[in-house]
Amino acid sequence: MRVLLIGSGGREHALAWKLKQSPLLETLFIAPGNPGTAQCGTNVVLDVTRHSDVIAFCRQEHIGFVVVGPEAPLVAGLVDDLAEAGIKAFGPSKAAAQLEGSKAFTKELCFEAHIPTAAYARFTDIAAAKAYVMAQGAPIVIKADGLAAGKGVVVAETIEQALEAVEDNLGQGVAGAEIVIEECMFGEEASFFALVDGSTAVALASAQDHKRVGDGDIGPNTGGMGAYSPAPVVTPEIAARVMAEIINPTVQAMAKRGTPFKGVLFAGLMITDTGPKLIEYNTRFGDPECEVLMPRLKSDLLPLLLATVDGKLAAATLDWSDEAALTVVYAAKGYPAKPETGSVIGSFEKASAMNGVTVFHAGTKLREDGALIANGGRVLVVTGMGGTISEAKAKAYAAVEAIEWPGGFYRSDIGFRAL
Ligand code: AMP
Ligand code: GLY
Repeated sequence: MRVLLIGSGGREHALAWKLKQSPLLETLFIAPGNPGTAQCGTNVVLDVTRHSDVIAFCRQEHIGFVVVGPEAPLVAGLVDDLAEAGIKAFGPSKAAAQLEGSKAFTKELCFEAHIPTAAYARFTDIAAAKAYVMAQGAPIVIKADGLAAGKGVVVAETIEQALEAVEDNLGQGVAGAEIVIEECMFGEEASFFALVDGSTAVALASAQDHKRVGDGDIGPNTGGMGAYSPAPVVTPEIAARVMAEIINPTVQAMAKRGTPFKGVLFAGLMITDTGPKLIEYNTRFGDPECEVLMPRLKSDLLPLLLATVDGKLAAATLDWSDEAALTVVYAAKGYPAKPETGSVIGSFEKASAMNGVTVFHAGTKLREDGALIANGGRVLVVTGMGGTISEAKAKAYAAVEAIEWPGGFYRSDIGFRAL
């Protein structure tokens, strides 16, 4: 099979690395990819916002299957346009990607399908929003609608912070905006992944991410500074409840609406005293969660992704490694506000060659002289595998420490909640 993978991050390197191991794979293209994906296939320059260009490339290269990594092309309807052109593609339709693209959409669906989540109200009017905040009190959560890459959420500890967040989103000069105001939930967060073929959902594994930039979960939110899998907080009992109370009702509600969900459903969960509750959905693999899931997946990924698109997951079986995986994001100094790019990363091969370690590329670039340089915020994603999370952590950090990169930084406490 000739496959085109869309995306350029650590997630896509992990997907490319896993797809390359498939006996079904003949050729892999990655658009635009990164120096890591270039070791798994051929990187191609394609403007993925121009769907006609993607379709033309697929025809020219006889691509039988397209795998979409990030959310933006999904929300833009790339999978719909490929399907219309007769090209099989992994990922939800534009309508189904609303589960990630619109918080208000997801909240309404949860209400309709009785899915446990925080109580909420939506507002376009600033006065009404402020009155609601005053009536509810703090802590309270204010979210901008639409794709905000995790930055559009304020967990306000005080009424003043909440009112300020309302002002930021709906105040003067912000036209046509909408916000969701939510009850604040308490508990431990976890990520849960399932493949969904429109009607059947198959659980993948759980993971935990570290969203804050600094040790001890302080500082601004990022795309994720590290992750591990499995997440001990997601016990088999909790996993069964997540499937029964959250994932399956969502799949049924989407099918009932005539917009069946096909792809990977990524539930951000709060494990509360009364059970799992949904914080949000993403409609793609998490980054860096994918970099711990792929090394733990023993089954061939390619037939699983194909079965997802073909509506054949009911017959699928998944085999997972008993080992734990832990990944550390090596980011460019200044991330997330203003990452400094261009610095040279040294001793990279030494880390890659270590036993039980895989180094995934995210924002890297090969300079003309062959040096590997930083080219983004999250630059390298270093995964260790071991019998326990603690062993996986030791391997990941040994590899991180072997890399010589004065231009980068990382959190030193990935996995602390599990240890
Ligand atoms: P989101 O973009 O919806 O995932 O929110 C980003 C982060 O805000 C989450 O990972 C949580 O840490 C926090 N958060 C979002 N909604 C809530 C909520 N209702 N209660 C408590 N924390 C929340
Ligand atoms: N790591 C969180 C995300 O991919 O959205």
